[in-house]
Amino acid sequence: MMVEPPQTEANPLRQALPRAQAPQPCAIVLFGATGDLAHRKLVPALYRLYHRGHLPTECAIVGFGRRDWSDDDLRKEYEASFPASEKGGDFKDVWPQFASRIVFTPGTFDDPGAFRALKAKLEELDRTHGTRGNRVFYMAVDPEFFRPIIDQLGEAELIHDWRQESPWSRVVVEKPFGHDLESARQLSRDVSRVLDEDQVYRIDHYLGKETVQNILALRFGNSIFEPLWNRRRVASIQITVAEEVGMPGNRGSYYDSAGAIRDMVQNHMLQLLCLVAMEPPVDLSADAVRSEKVKVLQALPRWTPEEVYRHVVRAQYSAGSIEGADVPGYRQEKGVAADSTTAPYVAMRLTLNNWRWAGVPIFLRTGKRLPKRATEIAIQFKKPPTQLFDVEHDGNSAGNQLVLRIQPNEGASLTFEAKIPGSRRRLQEVRMDFRYGTAFASPPPEAYERLLLDVMLGDPTLFTRTDEVENAWRFIGSILDAWDRPDAPPPVEYPAGSWGPQAADELIKRDGATWRRL
Ligand code: BG6
Repeated sequence: MMVEPPQTEANPLRQALPRAQAPQPCAIVLFGATGDLAHRKLVPALYRLYHRGHLPTECAIVGFGRRDWSDDDLRKEYEASFPASEKGGDFKDVWPQFASRIVFTPGTFDDPGAFRALKAKLEELDRTHGTRGNRVFYMAVDPEFFRPIIDQLGEAELIHDWRQESPWSRVVVEKPFGHDLESARQLSRDVSRVLDEDQVYRIDHYLGKETVQNILALRFGNSIFEPLWNRRRVASIQITVAEEVGMPGNRGSYYDSAGAIRDMVQNHMLQLLCLVAMEPPVDLSADAVRSEKVKVLQALPRWTPEEVYRHVVRAQYSAGSIEGADVPGYRQEKGVAADSTTAPYVAMRLTLNNWRWAGVPIFLRTGKRLPKRATEIAIQFKKPPTQLFDVEHDGNSAGNQLVLRIQPNEGASLTFEAKIPGSRRRLQEVRMDFRYGTAFASPPPEAYERLLLDVMLGDPTLFTRTDEVENAWRFIGSILDAWDRPDAPPPVEYPAGSWGPQAADELIKRDGATWRRL
């Protein structure tokens, strides 16, 4: 029996997700259904969509995995790992309705029989759950399985012809898409044997964050910022993605082959940079936005190895303490080689080779085991041409700074100088602040909610196109090649729980700047 999803929120202004469009009936197949991503992010996001009434009524979730589980086993697993903080309210009534849509199909990715069984299961769901042949295949698996799964989907004729409007098939590919430029190109070629580009949704979950989408709203939905948004008015840009976590669970073994450069910079940080630096698109269609982003990636520097050593700092954390607890150094983490040169911290200074930004230093930094989790973008504006007032601080005034807080405390603030009341002409820095939580009366939804909904709606705007991925790899490739050379300086160290290595402070000091204290 089908149960109608509850319609819980009456006030549409509180809804950060679009209401106008409802996705068509579909089945969502999760490859890697027993893995961490499905448990921690995907299933909770699907539940929340269901709870808000955004999942189609005719919908099924198909877990595909190696275990010998029943539908009930999978439902219980997902329920047990659901965030405890969200299990209050009407959870105990709504969860069973949601869970009744979850089914499990056992199988391995190299077994054509398992994919034939999957096909039969999907056809059965078309009849029992009204999913009408529409399918989302979500690859929440290690990258080495992307190709075998796509091949099997093709072999089993599970992918519909892209030219037909319905039924449709869409494949969501998690990052990393390739390991370098060559492997990314090879993967694109392999994928294109089975899928059309329109059927491939390369996910970068940062693009699903409400605050990240707000970068475009702030820039192009207002008229006051854009005239200042260029090399004439901007002194520098800083993008920070700081994390407290180290290598939880079995993360170390994947991470040691990636490092911050592949895990964070190639995708999340370059995407943030694209949104900050791009030209206004002609409209907000997927291709218009993505074409402007590609131009930013094409303007990234082409560095020689010596330039990489000068402009990029890589570092590993040594043992230290976070919030009073002792934590091991990177090389002592489970799954990490004792002589690893992989860097969980990267800082770099770059400039973009285009008219808008030429000469403006852009600083990126990201690292694990930093003192706290914080992602922000800071636009530092130039100082006034003359100083008429006495400035009341230690010389480290931020001056005019626009800070976009991506997470946590989502929002934005603008700092400027104001006259301290009294007879003297003294100035002090003050701040105007916008907070999502207070302005919109609810916290922004999780990135995966928005992205899953967009896949079901067939809107690829927030997914990366193949030329974006390749241009990002081209830039990252020059850094990786330089680090691979025998004369490359090894990673430097920083104590866990500190704000990174001294070399990163020296890097930014060369431009007379300092990293923002977060
Ligand atoms: C993932 C990375 O893509 O993003 C992780 O693989 C990282 O290493 C995570 O911790 C950070 O995501 P968020 O949304 O918590 O900032």
